[in-house]
Amino acid sequence: MKYKKKSIRKKYKPNNSEKITPKYSKIALIGFRGAGKTTIAKHLMRYWNLELISLDDYIQKENSSSIESIVNQNGWEYFRKLETNALKKISEINGHVLLDTGGGIVENSEHMSSDEKTNFLKTNFFTIYLYMNDDKLLSRIHTLKNNKQRPSLENSQNNITDILRRRKPLYQKSAHAIVDITDTSPDEAAKRIVELLKE
Ligand code: S3P
Repeated sequence: MKYKKKSIRKKYKPNNSEKITPKYSKIALIGFRGAGKTTIAKHLMRYWNLELISLDDYIQKENSSSIESIVNQNGWEYFRKLETNALKKISEINGHVLLDTGGGIVENSEHMSSDEKTNFLKTNFFTIYLYMNDDKLLSRIHTLKNNKQRPSLENSQNNITDILRRRKPLYQKSAHAIVDITDTSPDEAAKRIVELLKE
């Protein structure tokens, strides 16, 4: 399914009087590339009264560079460090925040300790794993590949299926809640999440 950015903006013009504040002040959407984290985050903003931050946008602004150039010029390890620093800064923001993370957030050992008690992401954010089944995810990633400027995740050792297989248990482990969005529209997914996090 292709999402048209323009129509989303028009349709989701905020109506602040109807918005509610979710019960956690820091909420993070996690999940693989192509699952629709950004689209669902935008839909959530129809219902929630909080600040939406895209971790990738935050890093791009802080470094005045695209994710693609950061990765191409400095490598993945460097990008992952920027990711951890940004995550820490965002966790200190005073106020409610919905964080739209990049799909690789769970692969960063600096903030992803396997011990739940010291896992930075999980102790500072209420994390929602947007699960989509492999077939749908892989076909969406294939479409994204053709029309989006994002650094490729694949290399000679890892193809996309390997990466997905490696990350799935990490998403599960890092999640406070798992929402299956395989057969769900973005707005329906958003409504389910709102319901889940009602005071
Ligand atoms: C990444 C996913 C990207 C971005 C970066 C790394 C990954 O975000 O953070 O290219 O490792 O899966 P999306 O999940 O929005 O593609």
